[in-house]
Amino acid sequence: MKKTIFITGTSSGLGKLTAIAFAKLGWNVAATMRTPEKETELTQYDNIKLFKLDVTDVAQVKSAVEQAIAAFGRIDVVVNNAGMGSYGALELAKEDTIDWQFAVNVRGPINVIRAFLPHYRENNGGKFINISSYMGVTSAVPLGSLYNMSKFALEGLTEGLYYELKPFNIGLHLIEQGGSKGNNFIDSIVWNTSEEIKAYDGIIAKLKSLMESAKDDESLVDDPQTIVNAIKALATGESTQFRTLVGDSAKGLMAMRNSMPIEEYLEKIAANYN
Ligand SMILES: NC(=O)c1ccc[n+]([C@@H]2O[C@H](COP(=O)([O-])OP(=O)(O)OC[C@H]3O[C@@H](n4cnc5c(N)ncnc54)[C@H](OP(=O)(O)O)[C@@H]3O)[C@@H](O)[C@H]2O)c1
Repeated sequence: MKKTIFITGTSSGLGKLTAIAFAKLGWNVAATMRTPEKETELTQYDNIKLFKLDVTDVAQVKSAVEQAIAAFGRIDVVVNNAGMGSYGALELAKEDTIDWQFAVNVRGPINVIRAFLPHYRENNGGKFINISSYMGVTSAVPLGSLYNMSKFALEGLTEGLYYELKPFNIGLHLIEQGGSKGNNFIDSIVWNTSEEIKAYDGIIAKLKSLMESAKDDESLVDDPQTIVNAIKALATGESTQFRTLVGDSAKGLMAMRNSMPIEEYLEKIAANYN
């Protein structure tokens, strides 16, 4: 029987590439996104079906999951990919932005996982692949505390759930990637800045310019296909790793992080922004 994968956030970047890769592999793909009416690329594949899904909307998550199960009969793998970043000074963040960062990157996967659990228990199995980041394990830049918080929380959620879902043969996996090419992540960042408070202007400007130049610098960002390959390996069972650190940028940073005490690491990163 054909396998089926359900993916959130397939309108761009990694989500879209993953949907296409699994369609080419011959899987059924439930590709979910906030605005399926705008999609023109994924609609070219017979084995991809689009479903409207904003991960922060519990009712819409339940409805999309029900529709996907009705369409394909059985879902084997769920990829919690939808995610966005808020950067800038915590002091300057709007209350809504703080809640939104948690809502998309943490509450979103919680909503999707909860909606799938009855189906997975009934099937006596299934997999969740949660798209985290090296920012889920360590910090890499200043002004990323909210995004760091969200991915650390996703890591904690995934690791904590392992025990309660193991008896049902439900697998949990984390992908920890670094920066990659061909996505909207940097352009979609919600920046926490202020017209009135100028104290953070210098460091915000430095980070913005660093991110802008890094996004097209092949030595700093990875080929997203390596991340898609890691997802494929987990989905097909070729890999059973709980955490997959993927891409040269993530591996380089983690090697540095692991080579020194946290105090030294924090100072080393901070020194780049003095
Ligand atoms: N790019 C990086 O450097 C990087 C590094 C480490 C980890 N990651 C993680 O990788 C994942 C994929 O990001 P990407 O790099 O492919 O960036 P991307 O191109 O910006 O993709 C993000 C996707 O999430 C969707 N999304 C945002 N809010 C949503 C919501 N409320 N409900 C449903 N979908 C929503 C976006 O859809 P819309 O089109 O509707 O906005 C888009 O499809 C994210 O979890 C991100 O945190 C990225």
